Amino acid sequence: MKYFPKVSWGNVYLSPLNPEDYEVFTKWMNDSRITDWITTWPMIFSLNWEKAWLENVAKSWDCNLAIVKKDGDKVLWTVGLFHIEHINQAAELWISIWDFEEHNKWYWADAINAILSFAYNTLNLYNVYLKVKSFNKKAIACYKKVWFQEIWTMHHCQYCNWERYDLILMEMLKPDRQEKNK
Ligand SMILES: CC(C)(COP(=O)(O)OP(=O)(O)OC[C@H]1O[C@@H](n2cnc3c(N)ncnc32)[C@H](O)[C@@H]1OP(=O)(O)O)[C@@H](O)C(=O)NCCC(=O)NCCS
Repeated sequence: MKYFPKVSWGNVYLSPLNPEDYEVFTKWMNDSRITDWITTWPMIFSLNWEKAWLENVAKSWDCNLAIVKKDGDKVLWTVGLFHIEHINQAAELWISIWDFEEHNKWYWADAINAILSFAYNTLNLYNVYLKVKSFNKKAIACYKKVWFQEIWTMHHCQYCNWERYDLILMEMLKPDRQEKNK
């Protein structure tokens, strides 16, 4: 077995990452069709770098999880929480579904619902927030569909391919989520 269900929602489960996946991580982490949308876009990821990163994650308590399709146990890539602050009960969320074959199937919604359920029910977090580039209209639409609210705009703070862009800050509070799930 390569993946192990930690949290389940809809058509996916979230599993600890498998360090054996370092080659395919390297492929996608250098593919601008994915990385232009995320903050790591200028970085160069070698096989050794990805291997070391995955091995470090495997040894840590960080909340980086593989999104795995229940049908066939296929990994769709990653979702996670970072900057976890237990006293403040806050954390930042990120998600990537790298495999283009698996886009347009709403797996992202199952993955976000699963990580939010883990964040609020297990980690006892209160505020889950995220930052998204203003030109990432698809991701913004996705986050709104699972009830994240835009709360702030940082203007012209992102550079990508000759242009400057805004960064949008969005959040979801535990009571708002409970209200929506009623
Ligand atoms: C963001 C991401 C997780 C979304 O997953 P996905 O499977 O591609 O999303 P979908 O194709 O199901 O699209 C979701 C919704 O966005 C809408 N959408 C797509 N493109 C859009 C656009 N340009 N403007 C507005 N809405 C858009 C779709 O219509 C769809 O809603 P619908 O099914 O009700 O019509 C995925 O594209 C991804 O990993 N992208 C690269 C990394 C990234 O951007 N991560 C987020 C960083 S903050």
